[in-house]
Amino acid sequence: MKIAVIGTGYVGLVTGTCFAETGNQVTCVDIDEKKIEKMRNGIVPIYEPGLEDLFNRNKNEGRLSFTTNLQEGIKDAKIIFLALPTPPGENGSADLKYILKVADDLGPILDQYVVIVDKSTVPVGTAELVSSHIAKNATVEFDVVSNPEFLREGVAVEDFMKPDRVVIGTSSEKAKNMMNKLYAPLVRQGNPVIFMDERSAEMTKYAANAFLATKITFMNEIANLCEKVGANVDDIRRGIGTDSRIGKRFLFAGIGYGGSCFPKDVQALEKTSKEFDYEFKILQAVMDVNEDQKTKLIPRLKEYFGGDLKGKTIALWGLAFKPYTDDIREAPSLYNIKELLEAGCIIKAYDPEAAANVKGVIGDVITYTKGPYEALKEADALMIMTEWPQFRTPEFDVMNVLLKNKVIFDGRNLYELDAMKELGYTYYSIGRETVKA
Ligand code: UDX
Repeated sequence: MKIAVIGTGYVGLVTGTCFAETGNQVTCVDIDEKKIEKMRNGIVPIYEPGLEDLFNRNKNEGRLSFTTNLQEGIKDAKIIFLALPTPPGENGSADLKYILKVADDLGPILDQYVVIVDKSTVPVGTAELVSSHIAKNATVEFDVVSNPEFLREGVAVEDFMKPDRVVIGTSSEKAKNMMNKLYAPLVRQGNPVIFMDERSAEMTKYAANAFLATKITFMNEIANLCEKVGANVDDIRRGIGTDSRIGKRFLFAGIGYGGSCFPKDVQALEKTSKEFDYEFKILQAVMDVNEDQKTKLIPRLKEYFGGDLKGKTIALWGLAFKPYTDDIREAPSLYNIKELLEAGCIIKAYDPEAAANVKGVIGDVITYTKGPYEALKEADALMIMTEWPQFRTPEFDVMNVLLKNKVIFDGRNLYELDAMKELGYTYYSIGRETVKA
């Protein structure tokens, strides 16, 4: 099938590449000429494990092409995916200007029946809005379908190729059949394609992300309480996660959720609720707790250093909002960096993928090191912001020599308390007893 994907950001590129992999003829369209040129030369503009190989194979075998010309890009396409940014607008709801602009541009150039798919996370009612914008100038029949993505960064290719489920919102039988055909190779193992109306599909995406953000936040609050009552959140996680109604995943306490989706989507859902005159009380609490959680280790750092952090060198391990990505959007590291700098600290940071992005945002106000141990040289303390696997079993012998004080502030609970006791570290973590050397 010939398909077009408008927008080659994270979602668009994964969608386009993976549908090429299942044998479709895919054209990716973007207004950014430099990006399109790069992709024509085989350069993938984002870091996502497994994507580059898939991208280049499909490009070289002629199933994946790129253009800045919308009309050329959608020529003969049976399905057009809109994978455009929906940044938070001034009032917190998703800003639809990019999507509606493309909808306006598409109307006059459609020349045959086509299914237009909203892939971006958009507020309830957007499919109808997109449809009305296209209809203003369209002369052919078309359907607008909502097909939210549930991709996790870092495992997006796997999530796309083996989805737990595919959600498709449409009231058109014709569109339903075409979407079913397109997704058939991805759901062979029996995972469902769930059909519903457009509004419910749009809502499903927000409900999924808000639920997961709430689940994490609930555990973060349990962790905060564990610290007060002297319990261990890791044990609580094991104790409740084995209940199949609760499930093992997304129960890890830490320094809050970040990324491009959870913060924006929780905020947008809360905004939608308000617009519909409903006060979604849990969501406001989730946002408030998460805000505080991000910098929760700073007061402890202050306490350790007797209240004054001025002139202290802090080593940071991890800058990305989570492992296996270079994405720093809403990363807890950025909030900690800000507070540490305000307190007069010197920061030496290491991240395997995300340092260049942080440098792009805050410049050289901190030092970026090539490896994790280099960040520890002459550092007064180590703070862990992201659970990259390489931080899980470090060379403590090497660390002991480099760090000025044997103290770790761990925002991701990487180490066992007994091991830290044995190594003679002072060890602060989340929702667990503080180990004092
Ligand atoms: C998320 C959703 O999982 C995905 O379905 C949706 O399409 C986009 O948003 P992503 O933002 O890539 O994906 O990250 P995810 O792996 O879900 O993690 C989100 C945040 O939650 C991260 O900051 C992570 O550190 C945090 N998290 C996750 C926890 O703090 N504890 C956990 O147990 C799980």
